[in-house]
Amino acid sequence: MSHDLFEAAKSAMAKAYAPYSKFPVGAALRTEDGRIFTGANIEVASYPEGWCAETTALGHYIMGGGGKIVEIAVLAERMAKCSPCGGCRQRLAEFCRPETKLYLCDNTGVAETVTMGDMLPYGFRGDILK
Ligand code: THU
Repeated sequence: MSHDLFEAAKSAMAKAYAPYSKFPVGAALRTEDGRIFTGANIEVASYPEGWCAETTALGHYIMGGGGKIVEIAVLAERMAKCSPCGGCRQRLAEFCRPETKLYLCDNTGVAETVTMGDMLPYGFRGDILK
């Protein structure tokens, strides 16, 4: 991965609104044609109404035109190798392939590289709904 995806996730993390958990997270996605979309977690006083950094990034990605996602970086200030929650794995998988790379970061860069297939084996696929 070029370091720029990590840097994009870091800049996104700086924008997190996480006054309740104090657990800022940043995510960055890159599409095949080189566009980068980022997101941070956004919390709400009614706790279950908040959402994750990956979900914010996906919103930007869809509104920016979508496309094939080729790599994803996730970073949390307070946890090395923070990995996407179950709901975000399902949301990311909607727009990724099993071989899409996911970079689990620490505060200095990529700490581990996995694939979306590793993250969500046997996940529900919506093919039958089409
Ligand atoms: N969070 C994310 O944004 N992404 C993850 O991958 C894990 C968790 C957020 C949700 C909540 O705002 C905070 O981290 C603590 O759970």
